[in-house]
Parts: sequence; C-alpha cells; structure tokens
Amino acid sequence: MTSVTVSSGNPASAKADVVVIATQPAPNSPSGKKVAVLAAGSAAVAQGFDGRLTAVLADLGATGRAGEVIRIPTGGSLGAPLLVAVGLGPDGPTPARLRAAAAIATRGAKGSKKVLFALPAPDVASISAQAEGALSGTYDFTAFRHTTLEGRQTPPSAVQITVSPGDVPTATARAAAKRGVTIGNALAFARDLVNTPPRDLPPAALADAARTAAVAAGATAEILDEKALARRGFGGLIGVGQGSTRPPRLVALRWTPPRPKARIALIGKGITFDSGGLSLKPPASMETMKTDMAGAAAVAATIVAAAALKIPVAVTGWLCCAENMPSGTAIRPSDVLTMYSGTRVEVLNTDAEGRLVLADGLARAAEDKPDALVDIATLTGAAIVALGPAIAGLMANDDAFRDRVGAAAATAGEDVWPMPLPAELRDRLDSAVADIANVPPSGGRDGGMLTAGLFLKSFVKDDLPWAHLDIAGPSWNGGEARGDTAKGGTAFGVRTLLALLESYAS
Ligand code: BES
Ligand code: MN
Ligand code: ZN
Repeated sequence: MTSVTVSSGNPASAKADVVVIATQPAPNSPSGKKVAVLAAGSAAVAQGFDGRLTAVLADLGATGRAGEVIRIPTGGSLGAPLLVAVGLGPDGPTPARLRAAAAIATRGAKGSKKVLFALPAPDVASISAQAEGALSGTYDFTAFRHTTLEGRQTPPSAVQITVSPGDVPTATARAAAKRGVTIGNALAFARDLVNTPPRDLPPAALADAARTAAVAAGATAEILDEKALARRGFGGLIGVGQGSTRPPRLVALRWTPPRPKARIALIGKGITFDSGGLSLKPPASMETMKTDMAGAAAVAATIVAAAALKIPVAVTGWLCCAENMPSGTAIRPSDVLTMYSGTRVEVLNTDAEGRLVLADGLARAAEDKPDALVDIATLTGAAIVALGPAIAGLMANDDAFRDRVGAAAATAGEDVWPMPLPAELRDRLDSAVADIANVPPSGGRDGGMLTAGLFLKSFVKDDLPWAHLDIAGPSWNGGEARGDTAKGGTAFGVRTLLALLESYAS
C-alpha cells in the first residue's frame, strides 16, 4: 500500500528518491521548434538548478506533450537524486491531465521508495486528482503471481504532494488528498474484482466481496441467494444462472445519508464468467469474459466510495450476479423465462444474457421508487464495433437525464458518447411465442448496442428517468497501462457514477 501525504515543505531540499515536476508545450516559440515550459509547482525545484532547468529540458528534447517523461539526474542539486518531468500537453494542469501525470510518475518510479510531487496544485480538484492518479499508477494485480520473480520491482511506498504558497491551505489540501485516496482505493477494489479469475469469483464470492467492502465503508448489504431468487420470481437471474453449478445472487448495497438530496439506483451486470451458455462463444471471445462483471464491480466500488465520502444522496447498488455456462441444466435457445416484472422473454440466444439479469435488477430497483436509474454493463460486442475499445455508449429514456449522465462523465474525465434508442428497431424484438425476444431472431446483428438498449428500456416505466451505459469496450484494457488507465480491469464508470451522485449533492 502506498501512503499519500501532503507537505508545504521545500521540494528542492526534501529527502526523496524522485522529485516529479510537470511541463507543458510553450505556447508559440519564435523558432517554431517545439519546447517545454515548466508548469506551476516547479519553482523551488527550478531554483535548485540555478535557473538552468528549462535549458536542460530543451537539450533533452522535452516538448511538454501529454505523457512525455524526461529523467534528469540531479547530481546533488536537489535533495533527491532523480528529477522526473512529466508532460501535461496543451490542456495544461487540468485534473484529468494531473491524474494521468501522477499515474505515469508513480508507475515509472517502481523500485524507489519515496516520490515527491512538485506539481500544479491550485485547487482541491487538482490535489485529489494527484492522489488518485498516484494510486492508479501503483496499481498492480499481484494476487495470483509470485511477487519474488526477478525483475519485478515494487511500487513506491510513499508519495508526498507538495503545496506551495498561493495554493490551497495545507489542511484543505490534506482533505482533498484523502478524497483522492478514497476514490483511488475504490478504483483498485473494482479492478481487483474484474481481474480475479472466474474460478475464484463465482456469484456468491462477488456478492460477499461487495458486501464486506460496502459494510466496512458504512453502507448496508442484503444478498438474495438462489432460493430467495426463485421464490420471488427472479426468472432472468435464475434462468441465466441455471447452467452453472455456482448459483446466482442479487445484491442490494445501500448508502443512506441522514437527509438525502436525491435517491438514485445503480444496477450493474455481474456475469462472473460469460461462456455464452449453449449459444457458446468461440474460444478467443471467451478469453476476457471474466470482465463481464465489470458493471457490478463499478456499482460496488461507487457505493463504497459514496459511503466513505458521505455523499448526501441515497443510493442503492444492485449487483445482478450469475455465471453463464453451458450444461444439461442450462437454458436453451427458444426457452421462455418469466421475469421478475412478469414479462415473458423468449431466449433466442443464451449469449445475450446480460439484458436478462439486468431486466430483473431494473424491475426490482424501480420498486423502491428512486428518482432515477442508471445501469452499467459490459453488454454488447456491438458497442465496441461502434465506438472502439475505449468509449462507452450512453442511452436513456429521457434526453435531459442522458445529458446529465454525459455531463457527469465529462466532469469525471471518462469517455462516454450518447447513442439513440430508435423506436423503429423495437419490433425486431417481437417474439412469436412470448412478450419479447432477447435478440432479433436469426441475424439482425446491426444496431446490436441499440437493440440491447431497447430491450432494457422495455423493463423501465417511461416516467422514471433511466440511463444505460454499455461499457463493453472501456471496462477492459487489453494493452499496457496508459496514463491513469490500468492494464486489465479499468474500473471504468466509477468516477462517472460518483460525479453523477455529486451532481445531486449541491
Ligand atoms: N458479455 C458480452 C458482450 C461483450 C463482448 C463484452 C465483448 C465485452 C467484450 C455479451 O453478453 C454478449 O455476449 N453479447 C452478444 C449479444 C448478441 C448475442 C446479441 C454479443 O455482443 O455478441
Ligand atoms: Mn454473452
Ligand atoms: Zn455477457
């Protein structure tokens, strides 16, 4: 665990292994040559270099572009032997750029113990972004690996954020850093859940892990097991889960502050492994399907953070947990399920299972009469076809609420793009035998993100604002870590959901 502290001491003389400053591109250099200028927070460090730092950076080819890393041995000019300059790019010191820069800095500081940030810290948002990014950069999923393997270096144990005169007062900065640490830890919790191999995280284990974390943060938890689910008619969860030896769970996590400003329900897809069921996926498509509970993980982490931060909004998180497996007890294409809402669904494709468990979650969540519903799900490969691997699709039954969720994503620095729910595609889901089919019969793969959204929409009353985030792409990073985006599970959505809750707080 990396500790994050705040200091108003002089970063030039402080003892540390690495000092981190930020650079950005010079607005327009006369020669047209791209050069870096020092960002705020670096003044004391620059003084330690007797005013030669900008020239040294220029000699090393620094441009200040986003993500650029320049390492400079200090040769005794500073208390630390190494200076690292991270580029913020033309945006300058926005919270998003600082979060990424902080992550790049701590990720690059593996093997050293103490890292000192001398970064721009003009307001509380920039300080919590530094703390949050610092933790994202140290994130590593080590539970299933021998950590003593040669060549693997541990992340820094201490990060110290410097506030300079003119920045916010130290006490305010400490509170801001604490907030960043809380969010950073919540993100790590969601990533751990996603990265855990599916053998080790059946629905009951996901439910237990969520309950333990939520209760520790001050929320309450209720878990419905397979008997309770069957008794109460949760046909979607039971149907999807019945092919697995490891039965489904529905989890309700509740954070209830004293005088809530609003009441919000969050519903997460928690398929702990998606084999496709009898509509079996090809092997390559199955490799990353442990990530199919990323929506539930994001909801659990959001509740944990909302409770820890005491956000004055009542929020219930519904985790719809099941394992989608093929077997003699599995549902078959053409089976009909009676959902919690009473709607009968013809299951034409058992690989379109997410919408089945979510339909039950949405119907149950609405019973508590919240002001709005948001579901978050790794729902369709079609979302990746449409938006690429790093952008989530946002759909809703209410334009104003969709814009509100979109604005929350923008505040949070998560990439979300609005998508339509065209009424004229709805009849593709007409069933010959039941009220609705879970997919358009034979073929009809075009618009797959939208037909999935339309299926969910049919389980929500029109007068209840509802939004749907399809995070099939951004929930998982199949490449290396970049900025503050971790490798593997990314915890995508947590920051957007928190920003949405906070939009009701003021
Ligand atoms: N979990 C998948 C969607 C998915 C695909 C998530 C790739 C992350 C990466 C979902 O359950 C699924 O299988 N969807 C089908 C729907 C189809 C059968 C209509 C799909 O996208 O192919
Ligand atoms: Mn599936
Ligand atoms: Zn799935």
